[in-house]
Amino acid sequence: MEVLRNIVWHSSTITKPDRHRMNGHKSAILWYTGLSGAGKSTLANKVEEKLFERGIHTYVLDGDNIRHGLNKGLGFSAEDRKENIRRIGEVSKLFVDAGAFVSTAFISPYQADREMVRTIVEPGEFIEIYVHCPLDVCELRDPKGLYKKARAGEIKHFTGIDDPYEAPQNAELIINTAEKDLEECAAEIMKYLESNGYIDEAGE
Ligand code: ADX
Repeated sequence: MEVLRNIVWHSSTITKPDRHRMNGHKSAILWYTGLSGAGKSTLANKVEEKLFERGIHTYVLDGDNIRHGLNKGLGFSAEDRKENIRRIGEVSKLFVDAGAFVSTAFISPYQADREMVRTIVEPGEFIEIYVHCPLDVCELRDPKGLYKKARAGEIKHFTGIDDPYEAPQNAELIINTAEKDLEECAAEIMKYLESNGYIDEAGE
């Protein structure tokens, strides 16, 4: 690409394996995807608490917050959502390189956009967590009153109402927040990280 002509990649002296060794744990993206109101942010924050208590480096990138800063100005067209996810993917990759578990809580409705992020990190570094909750339950919860507005036609292109949500095909984890409480859901994710060697078993 023309714009990259005089830009040369500089390798770091301290590598990702060095950081893993120092931290005593691996690093990865916990990619939470699901409808608005499914519980992505709540769950990401609960898992973060559990990781933090164990001294594990962790950070949460949250859709609504990131759209106030880094991604201010992006809307909800397919093109803008794609750019939203692309930027989050790149930022998340930096966190993984820095040795942390980064949790991303974005609707990320398109399979292709999520798969794109999967390809920019190494195998095993993208853990897709489908936060599954039926639309009618999300609509009942309606924590921000947005479904009501979408049904009234005040918000256009609202995911699940007049915009699509493509359910993950290859999710590492499917968490059903309509049937399990927050503690159980968070425990499932912690178990996955332990059983797959990302972090030590509790109490070790
Ligand atoms: S994504 O589709 O690009 O991944 P993202 O997670 O960043 O979406 O933002 C979703 C949040 O923006 C929702 O939780 C909701 O609060 C708000 N929002 C505002 N308008 C819309 C819309 N048209 N569709 C979905 N969410 C919207």
